[in-house]
Amino acid sequence: MKKNKILVTGVAGYIGGTFAYEVLKMGFKVYGVDSFINSNRNNIDIFFKNFPRDFNFLEIDLANDILELKKVFDEFKPDFIVHFAGLKSVSESQEKPDLYMANNVGSTRNLLENMNSETFFIFSSSATVYGNNPNQPLTEDSPIEATSVYGMSKIECENLIKDYAFNKGVKSICLRYFNPVGSHQEFVVVEDYLNQPDNLMPKLIECVKNGKNTINVYGSDYKTKDGTGERDYIHIIDLVEGHIAAIDKVQKIENIDFFNLGTGQSTSVVELISTFNKTNEQNIKINYVDRRLGDVAICYSNPLKAHNELNWQAKLSLERMCKDSWEAVQK
Ligand code: NAD
Ligand code: WQD
Repeated sequence: MKKNKILVTGVAGYIGGTFAYEVLKMGFKVYGVDSFINSNRNNIDIFFKNFPRDFNFLEIDLANDILELKKVFDEFKPDFIVHFAGLKSVSESQEKPDLYMANNVGSTRNLLENMNSETFFIFSSSATVYGNNPNQPLTEDSPIEATSVYGMSKIECENLIKDYAFNKGVKSICLRYFNPVGSHQEFVVVEDYLNQPDNLMPKLIECVKNGKNTINVYGSDYKTKDGTGERDYIHIIDLVEGHIAAIDKVQKIENIDFFNLGTGQSTSVVELISTFNKTNEQNIKINYVDRRLGDVAICYSNPLKAHNELNWQAKLSLERMCKDSWEAVQK
């Protein structure tokens, strides 16, 4: 029988919500869970309205509501668990280290405890696990290093997943995202720019929305093409397609694998702002301020492993990322 039941954690959030919407369109059955610690019911109402037969939802805290989680597994019997739920702010993780470790690692452990060799696990990891590495681009074999509590929580989750893959036969893929931006085609699930005060794209959106025409750029003296930080921005549609490729792949692997999801293009802050201005006919100006604590100069992927082994490649341009990010919040 075709495997088509996906337990999506963090389904009310930006990436989990976009993924859920796309796989529901494809005909998968989705059971979503979320605690709303960093989101609200908006996406949930949309999914119930658009996919009443194939969507179900329960509000639970994966790190604490162990009995409720077991009931979800018993009732839904998922084929795949795609685990997006987690707290993701680097700065907040430094202020609340215990919360970040308990929430992110606890949630992952509780899910894995309910799994066996018949269920497949896809995990939202992050390029942050590579820390501050001068050797760019990053491959999946680049050294792992935590430069924040958030990073430490992702590394600990990856290690836990490795344990369950080798010792309990839970076949798993960890996807290391670079910098996801944009929105899918229908603009139904949108990144909450009000909730994400420190990432570059939500900050640009916030500037336009609030009629401020200047953005603070953190540092102009990095050893990069123009002195500002370079990153690997990836369109959320490409990111979601990477997960769909991983769902196929995870059924064929022996125990665990790791893939970068990035474009392989390194874009500076100045380049992103100027592309945003040009594409969206805006005129946001730059105000250079000090470097932000903990920022690395350059971070971009070598995406070849995903290309060769997942048969996946990011396709959408930086212009499209800027256009869709802005258009989505306008609608
Ligand atoms: P998001 O905050 O929009 O969504 C995460 C969701 O998880 C939220 O709805 C939140 O309420 C929920 N959640 C958190 N802890 C939970 C718990 N204990 N139980 C149930 N629900 C819980 O974030 P996002 O941008 O969609 O990120 C999704 C995943 O991708 C996260 O794990 C994040 O670390 C990872 N990631 C994100 C980025 C990025 O730039 N957005 C980059 C790399 C990795
Ligand atoms: C990008 C560039 C900033 C805001 C973070 C997490 C990472 C991952 C993605 C989850 C940097 C500069 C930003 C602003 C600026 N998340 N900037 N002015 O730091 O690469 O990655 O989100 O896993 O773990 O660390 O993304 O969007 O915050 O910054 O100049 O107002 O934009 O200095 O060079 P980052 P970002």
